[in-house]
Amino acid sequence: MAKLTVEDLPLEGKKVLMRVDFNVPIKDGVVGDDNRIVAALPTIKYVIDHGGRAILFSHLGRIKKEEDKPGLSLRPVAERLSNLLNKPVTFVPVTEGKQLEDAIDNMKNGDVLLVQNTRYEDVKDGEYVKRESGNDPELGKYWASLGDVFVNDAFGTAHRKHASNVGIATNMPGKAAAGYLMEKEIKFLGDAVDNPERPFVAILGGAKVSDKIGVIDNLLDKADKIIIGGGMAYTFYAAKGIKVGNSLVEKDKIDVAKQILDKAGDKLVLPIDNVVADKFNNDADTKVVEGDIDDGWMALDIGPKSVEEFKNVLKNAKTVVWNGPMGVFEMPNFAKGTLEIGKFLGTLTDATTIVGGGDSTAAVKELGVADKLTHISTGGGASLTYLEGNELPGIAAISDK
Ligand code: 3PG
Repeated sequence: MAKLTVEDLPLEGKKVLMRVDFNVPIKDGVVGDDNRIVAALPTIKYVIDHGGRAILFSHLGRIKKEEDKPGLSLRPVAERLSNLLNKPVTFVPVTEGKQLEDAIDNMKNGDVLLVQNTRYEDVKDGEYVKRESGNDPELGKYWASLGDVFVNDAFGTAHRKHASNVGIATNMPGKAAAGYLMEKEIKFLGDAVDNPERPFVAILGGAKVSDKIGVIDNLLDKADKIIIGGGMAYTFYAAKGIKVGNSLVEKDKIDVAKQILDKAGDKLVLPIDNVVADKFNNDADTKVVEGDIDDGWMALDIGPKSVEEFKNVLKNAKTVVWNGPMGVFEMPNFAKGTLEIGKFLGTLTDATTIVGGGDSTAAVKELGVADKLTHISTGGGASLTYLEGNELPGIAAISDK
């Protein structure tokens, strides 16, 4: 890797600032899916096993007003991290000032400390000032002054230009390194996109074409096939002159969809049939139709022929990247297409299979096939930005080797 990694840094006795992405679901003060915390453990353990003092920073949720703060404290995360590491984690409930500085001064080699949610800095005295998410230069400089070296392991946040990732790194030239998770994400996504074993098939889903235009554009030059499912498929239907009934269509994106179809030739694989419903509700009346969708009906999942066709395209693939569900996955009656594709990916043991994005990740976990896949990205927006071929500011700011 062209960037410094944690193994290049001196750690013994050092105050090691670490940016991790602990933006995890929390309900009633308890962490739900802790995948992102687990994914950061190898780097944290490496740092403390080598005598470093790990000072962790993360954001959690989005803070726009004072009242958002109490529900978005990182305290429950400190508890879960402590259980996972099997050692105490000092939680500091503030993001700056004497309490934080004293806590850091009291650390011993191998200790772990978690700073309060960095986005607490986004609201000061009731004002939405975006110090963290606007990369306030003074804040990045202040946080950088608290440590000796910096390790960025927050791939999930790498598409953001925040004080706690870009700000700290730019204030620590030559001392800002990537952690193991960051390295792993870059390796898998980078190899898949820039150096894939072929055939390389991308599966893109989700509601909106507008979210995925950049990805489709970039992957058209790189992938052998692009499978399209989910709500966005019906904007492509409209572009092809297929009737869409009441299905989701982004009217202002029909022209873009036409251009993509012209450029793609037979590279783009659209659903042949769909599960259509008479309303947007799990208990709606449903039927499977091929091609045209009548008025009064909306497509909410891909149909069985589409599933077979997609499997056919996937069966010889050597590299697969999947982002986005094939239907309205959160409603059980329209989750089948997504689950079938997830299950099939689990059987492709000769291929490199990479999954990113909340719903597709949830699908492979629900199916219990996550451990049969090569890599589950911890980044939703970050992995999309990567697949678009765009620079991620969080990675760009890490010091070059
Ligand atoms: C994510 O969950 O995608 C990252 O943690 C970034 O969160 P954000 O979209 O609130 O910036």
